[in-house]
Amino acid sequence: MEMKLVEEAIKERLQMLRTFTSTPGHGVTRLPFSNEARRAADYLKEEMEKAGLTSVWMDAVGNVRGRLEADEPETQTIMMGSHYDTVKNGGAYDGIAGVVCAIETAKAIKRSGMHRRYALEIIAFNDEEGMMFGSGCLGSKALMGMVDQNDIRRLNDENGISIEEWMHRWGSRPEEIPALALDADQIRAFFEIHIEQGPVLDAGGKEIGIVDCIVGLLRCMVTVRGRADHAGTTPMHMRRDAIGIASKVISRLDQLADSQDNGSVATCGFIRAYPNAMNVIAETCEFTMDLRSREEESIERMMAEAETILKDCCAETGAGYEVDIKLRQKPVAMSRPIMDILCETCRENEYSFQKMISGAAHDSMIFADKTETAMVFVPSREGRSHCPQEYSEYGHLAKAVKIVYETIVKMNQE
Ligand code: GLV
Ligand code: MN
Ligand code: MN
Repeated sequence: MEMKLVEEAIKERLQMLRTFTSTPGHGVTRLPFSNEARRAADYLKEEMEKAGLTSVWMDAVGNVRGRLEADEPETQTIMMGSHYDTVKNGGAYDGIAGVVCAIETAKAIKRSGMHRRYALEIIAFNDEEGMMFGSGCLGSKALMGMVDQNDIRRLNDENGISIEEWMHRWGSRPEEIPALALDADQIRAFFEIHIEQGPVLDAGGKEIGIVDCIVGLLRCMVTVRGRADHAGTTPMHMRRDAIGIASKVISRLDQLADSQDNGSVATCGFIRAYPNAMNVIAETCEFTMDLRSREEESIERMMAEAETILKDCCAETGAGYEVDIKLRQKPVAMSRPIMDILCETCRENEYSFQKMISGAAHDSMIFADKTETAMVFVPSREGRSHCPQEYSEYGHLAKAVKIVYETIVKMNQE
């Protein structure tokens, strides 16, 4: 594998893909089913074809897919990919770097002319982030038969437009989702290369991270229902202040996470109030909670304690609240045997590496319970991610490609 060429190809594609953004000059914003997503999908299709993949297509949920068929009949498929959607004002690497690396891996396998015991399928997933509908991993869940058709109608973006409606606008049919489900027995393994999105590898001077576990998470939208009243005339003890109540919960999230004492994290990343006026006590306040931990019990404890605060504050004032769970995901382990091959391959290449946990969610967590799944991280400069400053070295991405490529070669010799 000519590393300089791999590095150049990765750089060229990522520089092109970062232009498909609705916020030029303010990071990459490529929301699912948007015009920018369409342009990225079309570009990825072309790049997959150029890399020699066949049967390149876009499925009903907006995943872009291409294949290298096996040289043996009736065999399993190795799958590899990541997502092409982004958060709002995000970086040019989260997700998409893994897609570009997967295309490069397929190109290397095709060019090597090796005997392929397994087919290889490359996928650019849609809607991993959950930026619009809160749930996330729509593309990977569709392939694992895990999309709840009710969610397609129920989950809305912030303007009340459902996934179903967005799919229609995109030109696809929600009723085709069940047919996308793959038979997990037909999948030999799933690989994902991704930027670390945290500071561990960069600070430790390591080139590669081999993920051993992805944290579990719970995401929800809380709506506090208070009462709109005059901000000057209503005595403090007579208020049902929705923002006041929400702020009590939000300001306790750091303590809830710290008290788990196992690296658990809790975030409120979205707040919206009505009527949102300076001299009106808020009638309603919506906010999100994103709770993550390697231990499922910690997630449940953080959620239960947050609800207790909400309940108590509401009982004191006569306000009410609702919790809408958007995503509940258990912590998942990566495949031990594949981790072993990846580590051995790092040693053979003299790449510095370490095993590590992923605090970020990934499409891999959807596959992990169904098929052998492996994730390879590359360092994120200063740990920055989900922001325009996100950066990873093309050379590190090329090394990740080499590691996965050689691991897939070894698996084809099984
Ligand atoms: C996705 O990047 C997430 O971890 O929320
Ligand atoms: Mn990602
Ligand atoms: Mn992300």
